[in-house]
Amino acid sequence: MKKQIFLMMSLIAILAVNSFAADKVIKLPAPNRKGGKPLMAALDERQSKRNISAAPLNRQELSDLFFAATGVTRKNGKLTIPTARDARSMILFAAMPDGLYRYNPEAHQLELEQPRDFREFTGTQKKMHTTAPVVLIYVSDNERMKRVNIPESGFTKYGAFHAGSMSQNVYLYAASANLSTVVCGLVEIDKLAIEMKLPESHRIQFTQPIGRK
Ligand SMILES: Cc1cc2nc3c(=O)[nH]c(=O)nc-3n(C[C@H](O)[C@H](O)[C@H](O)COP(=O)(O)O)c2cc1C
Repeated sequence: MKKQIFLMMSLIAILAVNSFAADKVIKLPAPNRKGGKPLMAALDERQSKRNISAAPLNRQELSDLFFAATGVTRKNGKLTIPTARDARSMILFAAMPDGLYRYNPEAHQLELEQPRDFREFTGTQKKMHTTAPVVLIYVSDNERMKRVNIPESGFTKYGAFHAGSMSQNVYLYAASANLSTVVCGLVEIDKLAIEMKLPESHRIQFTQPIGRK
C-alpha cells in the first residue's frame, strides 16, 4: 500500500513539473480573418512603440499575429507576404519566456526549438527585449531561395524584402489590435545565430518585440 501511495505521489509530482515546462507544440486557434480595424485606419495608426509590458498575449492574439506575419491564405499554400519566385524562404522564430519557438505556417502552430529564454540575445535595447512577451526573429533561408533558382547575388536583397513585408504586416496587426511593437536592427546577429544554432545558410534579418503597452 505504502509503495502504491509513493508511486502515486511521484506521478503527481512529474505531472506538476511537466505542466510548468514549455509546451512542445502550441496549436493556435484559427485566425480571425474578418476582424480588426479597417486597413486605412490601421495604416494611419501604424507606428513604432517601445513601451511594451510583460503581460502575455493570449492564444487568439498569437494566432492572429503569426497569421499576419506569414500565415497561409490559399489552398496552394501561398502566404500573407509575397516572396520572390514563391520561395517562401522565411522562417519566423518567436523568443518567449519559456522557450524559442518556430512558426509552422502550414500547421498554424508554434513548435518548440529550445526550452530556454532567448530574449536577452534578441536586441541591444535589453529592457524592452527581455520584458516583451514575444520577440519575433526573422530568418531567411538561402537554401530555399537556391531551390527556386534565385541567384546567390539576390539572397541578401530578397531576404531583406521578405522580412520587410512580414514586419510591416506585424506593425499593421499591432495597430489593429492595440499592441505595441518596433522593428529592431540593433541586434548582435552573429551572437544570436550561434545561440540559436542556426546553419550557415540561415540569415537573421532583424527582430521585433511585441506585446501590450
Ligand atoms: C530596418 C529598421 C531597423 C530599425 N531598428 C530599430 C532599432 O534597433 N531600435 C529601435 O528602437 N527602432 C528601430 N527601428 C524603428 C525606427 O526607429 C522607426 O521606424 C522610425 O523612427 C520611424 O518611426 P515609426 O515607425 O513610428 O514611423 C528600425 C526601423 C527599421 C525600418
